[in-house]
Amino acid sequence: MSSILTSSPPRVANSLKANAIAVGFTKTDSEGLAFQGPGSFIADLEKYFDVNLVDELSFFTPTGKVGEIFEIPVSSKDAQTDRLYLVALGDSTTQSFRIAAAAIARKVRGKKASVFSACAIKKDDVHAHAISLTMGAYLWNHKTGSAPEVPTFIVATEEKEIIDRAYAYSKAIARARDLVHTPSNIKTPAWMASQAQEFAKGNGLEVTVLAGKELKEFGGLRAVGNSSPNPGPRFIQVAYSPKKPKKSREALAHVVLVGKGITFDSGGISLKRPYDLMIAMKSDMAGAAAILGTLTALAELQPNIRVTGLMMCAENAISGTAARPSDVIKHYGGTTVEVINTDAEGRLVLADGLAYADLELNPDYLVDIATLTGAAALALGRGYAAMYTRDEKLAAQFEKAGSDSGDRVWHMPLVDDYKDAFISDVADLNHTGDKGDYSAGSVTAALFLENFVGNRKWVHLDIAGTGRSEVDSGENPKGGTGFGVRLLTQWIMSL
Ligand code: BES
Ligand code: MN
Ligand code: ZN
Repeated sequence: MSSILTSSPPRVANSLKANAIAVGFTKTDSEGLAFQGPGSFIADLEKYFDVNLVDELSFFTPTGKVGEIFEIPVSSKDAQTDRLYLVALGDSTTQSFRIAAAAIARKVRGKKASVFSACAIKKDDVHAHAISLTMGAYLWNHKTGSAPEVPTFIVATEEKEIIDRAYAYSKAIARARDLVHTPSNIKTPAWMASQAQEFAKGNGLEVTVLAGKELKEFGGLRAVGNSSPNPGPRFIQVAYSPKKPKKSREALAHVVLVGKGITFDSGGISLKRPYDLMIAMKSDMAGAAAILGTLTALAELQPNIRVTGLMMCAENAISGTAARPSDVIKHYGGTTVEVINTDAEGRLVLADGLAYADLELNPDYLVDIATLTGAAALALGRGYAAMYTRDEKLAAQFEKAGSDSGDRVWHMPLVDDYKDAFISDVADLNHTGDKGDYSAGSVTAALFLENFVGNRKWVHLDIAGTGRSEVDSGENPKGGTGFGVRLLTQWIMSL
């Protein structure tokens, strides 16, 4: 973790040990500048430091755009606090409290400083704001020399449980981000398995890893992962069930999450071009990382449900043992597939995971999450993941979990007219949909996956756009965003 998160009741006396105090303001045409905070916090703060915040703020002629932040010096002999952060809350939606949090966090990222934030009032806003403080302070590097310092955030609330819950999310997001940031020379599929085992220590998660001959039936995982024989692909199963289930374990609803865990995607023999495109491909295991992060959050939050994560981990390397365009492989469950372009490797490993889940795990809900197609990134950018499902009720649940959590999704269509693109002369399916000229790469990838989900209630999340950021921006650091942890955790908690 790059920061520490705690809480304290919203009283000025509690805030004076912090190096800085953050308060939020809004600007409207009718009311001008106004500060908002819990209870009498703002008035008490003004009194304590003998300042008029609106006057101070007017000096800067603020626009009120969410995340705009001003720093004013204060002093009092009884306070450690030497500055106030005045942060704009835009339209005061929950999303605005997230962006404001990221702006505050950026001020102290990598520093040994404490900030008391009294911006949010409503429960949901406090929760979202707290998580985003930690997201904005995230740092990762392997530089030698002294390690960066860690700021502390103290969020003003009477309800400590909100912050305890938020911290479970925060830690899970940081874990997922750490996995994505780790370079591919370190994060082999075997390393991913050791991380899963490490994260599971002492919290009741059960980890099972399949490798080598044990993967005989997983033709997709082998076709991709054997391109890098040392140490080869891994099927990593991480299972959660509550420590004190409210009914028998078997009677609990069962969610299975399947994640793409390509530890590096060179494209394989169908090598990626231009080559610059490859640099971002250490992030191609962001789906698997989101699942592992989510499971660690659940182990802490203890919802009354069973959740099994399947991390489909392989490197897509170019080598003498790499799959070739025109190979025919057999997936878990027996479906044969003609490989067309070895750079469409994600769907091959996911197909095994989905079929395994359908045939062996009897899920009530089957969800996959993957940095699957450049097309999804092109369509929706970094703000929304592409979501596919035929189940309108599930779509609505995910849309709500998305906007409630900050990991937003957009419901995309599974267009039946495009299905004939998957006809193959030599196998049950070709794997890229190359028989049609439908474009819609994200849609066709989803249609391919649908062949492996049986009759399950299924949601596919294409996070190619949201899983990684190329710049420090808002809650996101340059690199892995941890997208999906908030979404999946929030959705599971709502079931
Ligand atoms: N990992 C990539 C998708 C990707 C692209 C993720 C950009 C994040 C950012 C995936 O394996 C891939 O290469 N997809 C191909 C599929 C095509 C060959 C059918 C794509 O999207 O171009
Ligand atoms: Mn690829
Ligand atoms: Zn890929």
